[in-house]
Amino acid sequence: MPEAVSAFPTEEILKAAERLPPFPAVIWKVTALLRRMAPVREVEAVIKYDPAIAAKVLAMSRSAYYARRYAIGSLSDAIVALGDQQLIRVVMTACAARYFESEISGYELKEGELWQHAVATALIGETVARRLGKKKVLTIYTAALLHDIGKSVLSFYVKTYMDAILIRMSRKGLRLLDAERETFGVDHQELGEMIARRWRFPPEVVTGIGYHHRPKQATSHQDIAAAVYVANRTATAMGWAGGIEGLAEAYEDEIFGVLGISTSMVGQFWTDIRSTMGEVKQLLSDESSIFGGQPEDKTPARASGYHH
Ligand SMILES: [Fe+2]
Ligand SMILES: [Fe+2]
Repeated sequence: MPEAVSAFPTEEILKAAERLPPFPAVIWKVTALLRRMAPVREVEAVIKYDPAIAAKVLAMSRSAYYARRYAIGSLSDAIVALGDQQLIRVVMTACAARYFESEISGYELKEGELWQHAVATALIGETVARRLGKKKVLTIYTAALLHDIGKSVLSFYVKTYMDAILIRMSRKGLRLLDAERETFGVDHQELGEMIARRWRFPPEVVTGIGYHHRPKQATSHQDIAAAVYVANRTATAMGWAGGIEGLAEAYEDEIFGVLGISTSMVGQFWTDIRSTMGEVKQLLSDESSIFGGQPEDKTPARASGYHH
């Protein structure tokens, strides 16, 4: 296995990222409808237009994590029971799922692991956002959910060049991002930023994804990037790791400072997080019924084989 790769497959990687299907329009349509307080049946019609997304929204709404005290019989029940803010996050999650469904096994990831990492990071991000009293819960949730989207493209190449990357990490003590950049000329953070921009997410979300490992380097929206950083590190520490990402990366406590969390508050913060963990576990254990095996789940992402 080559230690030094002479020709970077950068061009090919960027083209693969460009081939990702656009983010499902249903999310923007639902957001617009809710903003103008459209009737439930209109919201329902928009979600139903994409059966794969509708099935996921319904399944998530029925999970113990979201259903709480309501019995959810239909999609319209779900829309009413979830309320606008939760509904948007559930639809966002259902839309994002399709990009994590194809085989993602680079980074020593097992099947479904990157998706679980994404969902766990998003739910922790939501808690971080609340804890901080942020009004930007959806922004942080979205950026956290999609923070490693670059890996869904890069994974294919990482698999081929795994030895080169691991050697760079162990011999040179490089972090994953730097090892990726040395090997491919681009890293998963930068790639994710590019993808989010192509998908026309707002600048805060783009920054949250583009600086999730290096929040202090962000020149704007540093708080969003810091929240995603903390959520990502926490998800990893709690066992929902995004593959080899957790390796060789020290926990930068100073980032808590960016979020206004003092050392003495970190303990309380962990207690808050731990209390949501049981619920996150619940949702992820329902995950196979929510995200797996529906016949209509032949998504454009999988069908087009965008990795190649
Ligand atoms: Fe990452
Ligand atoms: Fe991650």
